[in-house]
Amino acid sequence: MSTASSTPASIKHYLQFSDFTADEYAYLFERAALIKKKFKSYEKHHPLADRTLALIFEKASTRTRVSFEAGMYQLGGSVVHLTTGDSQLGRAEPIEDSAKVISRMVDLVMIRTFGQDKLERFAEFSRVPVINGLTNEFHPCQILADIFTYIEHRGSIKGKTVAWVGDGNNMANSWLQAAEILDFTVHVSTPSGYEVDQSVAGVRSSDSYKVFTDPMQACAGADLVTTDVWTSMGYEAENDARRKAFADWRVDAEMMRVAKPDALFMHCLPAHRGEEVDADVIDGPQSVVWDEAENRMHAQKALMEYLLLGRLA
Ligand code: CP
Ligand code: NVA
Repeated sequence: MSTASSTPASIKHYLQFSDFTADEYAYLFERAALIKKKFKSYEKHHPLADRTLALIFEKASTRTRVSFEAGMYQLGGSVVHLTTGDSQLGRAEPIEDSAKVISRMVDLVMIRTFGQDKLERFAEFSRVPVINGLTNEFHPCQILADIFTYIEHRGSIKGKTVAWVGDGNNMANSWLQAAEILDFTVHVSTPSGYEVDQSVAGVRSSDSYKVFTDPMQACAGADLVTTDVWTSMGYEAENDARRKAFADWRVDAEMMRVAKPDALFMHCLPAHRGEEVDADVIDGPQSVVWDEAENRMHAQKALMEYLLLGRLA
């Protein structure tokens, strides 16, 4: 029977990367590997049979929608898909009311929206776990998949250096939170005016990241080089100014050359070749962007299972 009709004693949400401990991440990465192995060998795995996931999108998506939707079906559950345009969400129904109603009918909710405050308000009034599918401030599911991908290719990320080249955005903030929890370092290089803000990023100290004005210096000796679009969803009005400001923050072969010889390249996608990354990098041998995209699904299956059922043997 679904848990949606009763309020559990304590609900675990996943609103930002810092919601889980290093120990919980160690479990999730192992679990994601097992779930991926089962998927690859066509082994049925239906721990969420009869459970329903609501997917709420107030911004566009390809990967997040497909990975959550396919992932939930593969776990034996089902999915309800809502957007601002085709629900009362776009007609100013209070988010608190939406949370109360939706969470009485489903077991789990994923939301992609604008401000983190909106997601937090939904979670406060929800009877079921809520997952951040991207906000202006954070994108924790992507970093979960990215670190799982790093581990698959290179082993533990502990003690490694991740170079972030580009905007001090939701992805950058989530990398900073991950570095603090999983004990690695982020070298951040952004154009002036687009820096990360430690208070928005929600990190306790600057011990796990270093800021560089020159992106080449940020990449020097890095184990992983990563970037993202110059203009995130919701900031389209700044597009022209951003194109000018970010012109020197394109990840190119030179940046990859100064990184470690076995450095990986990641990008959460969608990518714009010739803007934030050159085609020979994203389509080159060091790029793991397709594994990264696929791993959204495996990592999120482990996440959904954990939020609803806790640790499984
Ligand atoms: N990386 C990512 O979240 O992609 P979508 O915007 O396509 O969901
Ligand atoms: N920073 C980007 C990520 C897209 C997946 C955005 O918020 O649009």
